[in-house]
Amino acid sequence: MEGKRVAITGPTAGIGRATALELAVRGAHLRLLCRNREKGEALAAEIAALGAPEAVVIEMDMASLASVAEAARQLAGIDGGLEVLINNAGLINTRRRESLDGFEETLAVNHFAPFVLTGLLLPLLEDSPGARIVNVASDAHKFVRGMGFEDMQAEKNYRIFREYGRSKLANMLFTLGLVRRLGSKSPTVNCCHPGAVASSLGTQNAGFVSGIVPRLLKPFFKTPEQGARTSLFLACDPSVAGISGRYFVNSREATPKPWALDEAAAERLWDYTEECTGFRYTQ
Ligand SMILES: NC(=O)c1ccc[n+]([C@@H]2O[C@H](COP(=O)([O-])OP(=O)(O)OC[C@H]3O[C@@H](n4cnc5c(N)ncnc54)[C@H](OP(=O)(O)O)[C@@H]3O)[C@@H](O)[C@H]2O)c1
Repeated sequence: MEGKRVAITGPTAGIGRATALELAVRGAHLRLLCRNREKGEALAAEIAALGAPEAVVIEMDMASLASVAEAARQLAGIDGGLEVLINNAGLINTRRRESLDGFEETLAVNHFAPFVLTGLLLPLLEDSPGARIVNVASDAHKFVRGMGFEDMQAEKNYRIFREYGRSKLANMLFTLGLVRRLGSKSPTVNCCHPGAVASSLGTQNAGFVSGIVPRLLKPFFKTPEQGARTSLFLACDPSVAGISGRYFVNSREATPKPWALDEAAAERLWDYTEECTGFRYTQ
């Protein structure tokens, strides 16, 4: 990864942090897209202490599409190129919350924000031969049996695991939709499941029970470093150069549930997302 420019969302905790640190050790030039600048600066200092190339911290709150657009603008201003984008950041909420733009927050942060960010960074990726996009999805797409288009904003009924599972299914359908638009052109786009990982996921905005469950399960989960392996594989490994539109678990191609391969649902979601976000891909 020597000299490769890599943007990663959510590098300040869990899987993203482990991914960023390993990429830094491998010589990547990181663009750290962070909700919390202080945490981002602390990570950049840690990266500098490793003797790795300087990491650039860019503030981005994915609950705000204006913040996503501003972050993309700043990133493009650095030196105009990008070899890898890792859409890693994500959250799970125990109760219905809204993003700053007024959308159900799980869908907004986990799907709308990476959809817009990727679209805004696409010109940089297209200009970089062999570029790759990695979408960190989840086997949690198995919690649902489809997008549930009739209540996308969970206004009628909010269920924690349905909203999270739906947002992760959205990551997979977005991967499908983007590959359809890019065809065989660069960048490649793949998605993955990192495994069940002991991270901060589910501990923010959590009630007593949901806050304590991840802590109880921690000994049975992967470490963030183990959880980062499949993202790293998709971002770096020569064996997946030119491979696009696939789902990976434990650094191997895996078969997702059929509703994660539903082209019609992917197109319907694409239209819905463009309508909600007001952002249109030009391809
Ligand atoms: N952990 C698992 O078992 C598991 C399993 C399958 C898939 N995944 C997926 O793996 C990815 C990483 O999750 P994780 O387990 O590493 O979670 P985590 O430890 O909670 O880290 C989440 C990261 O996302 C950032 N983030 C959250 N909300 C944000 C917002 N509004 N704007 C910008 N950044 C935001 C967090 O920033 P702060 O540091 O500021 O909080 C943090 O850096 C997620 O997409 C998740 O769905 C995780």
